[in-house]
Amino acid sequence: MGLNIAVLANLKRNAPKYAGMPDDAWDDLDSDITVNAIVAALEAGGHRATFLEGNLSLIETLAALKPDLCFNICEGHWGDSREAHVPAILEMLRMPYTASGVMTLALTLDKPMTKRVLAFHGLSTPAFQVFERADEPRDPDLTFPLFVKPSREGTGMGVSANSVVNSEAELRNQLAAQIARYCQPILVERFIRGREVTVGVVGNLVGPVAWRVPADEQAERVFEGLRFLPPLEVDFAAYPASEGGVYTNRMKTEWAGDFRYLCPAPLDPKLVQQLNWLTAAVFRVTGCADVARVDFRLDADDGDRPYILEVNPLPGLYPGLSDLVLEADATGLPYNDLINAILDAARMRHGL
Ligand SMILES: Nc1ncnc2c1ncn2[C@@H]1O[C@H](COP(=O)(O)OP(=O)(O)OP(=O)(O)O)[C@@H](O)[C@H]1O
Ligand SMILES: [Mg+2]
Repeated sequence: MGLNIAVLANLKRNAPKYAGMPDDAWDDLDSDITVNAIVAALEAGGHRATFLEGNLSLIETLAALKPDLCFNICEGHWGDSREAHVPAILEMLRMPYTASGVMTLALTLDKPMTKRVLAFHGLSTPAFQVFERADEPRDPDLTFPLFVKPSREGTGMGVSANSVVNSEAELRNQLAAQIARYCQPILVERFIRGREVTVGVVGNLVGPVAWRVPADEQAERVFEGLRFLPPLEVDFAAYPASEGGVYTNRMKTEWAGDFRYLCPAPLDPKLVQQLNWLTAAVFRVTGCADVARVDFRLDADDGDRPYILEVNPLPGLYPGLSDLVLEADATGLPYNDLINAILDAARMRHGL
């Protein structure tokens, strides 16, 4: 039977304005196109779907709508854990919702904190240091080239060719610029030279899993509830040198309509298997639910060894453009089916 579903999102056009706002301030929020496409997909799946803006008005709007379940893609507006705010409200209202919960969304918005969890579990992520001031001493083990990015942003905010720094002077310049612009600790990582791939997954692990996912044939059992989408590779060769071989904010916003990629990425099947295993392990140790996308770089100086850059538990769902949507498309999963697969994973998890 069809459900009454509230689609919760933060629309860019509803975002608060404030003095001194950088022009990329709300680049990670959603458009009417995305929200309308999700509503249409859920309706095509036989449900009733209504968009509600994800802010404090939810306390009244949800009480009026009385949905059976919320389809949540809210990125949030303020604070260190902004993606966790709407789920926290939903839990206080005892309202089930799709995708990851409060803890996971708060954790994964913070890249350094996520990297500490990954490192604890022996999952490879580039060596790093966090800077709160531009003049903090650099860990001598961290050698150039390095990569500089904000700790808690998405959609490539703060990511340009200038994020790759080759000297102490360039590092200090980038740190000063990013601290001033984003008012948050800045993450400096070893620059991984090489190809870039991202792997999407829909569903949930089957049954309890001790520690991280098993490495042997047991993995098959816990993977049964996960649908791995084919890896998507960013086609850097199709972009001008100005982008520096990184997936920049400009590529993700201004040029998003002409995204150049390869999907399925031309990779050795063994490597695909390894990437899927890593994706499942990251999904597991960060506590993801229903859907996620894990970004990797393959180290060209170390036989394409994969490094985990970050996990996106609320991957973009812009029809025809977002990475996850393109991956689904490449495997014959049309947009409407992708949205309903995320919904069904949540329904099963909540017993709805
Ligand atoms: N350590 C690194 N070495 C090389 N390139 C990197 C590194 N960290 C980030 N990048 C480049 O910067 C891009 C953006 O980084 P990251 O995925 O962490 O940011 P994001 O803005 O959160 O992305 P998303 O849009 O997926 O939310 C990566 O896709 C990659 O091209
Ligand atoms: Mg990313």
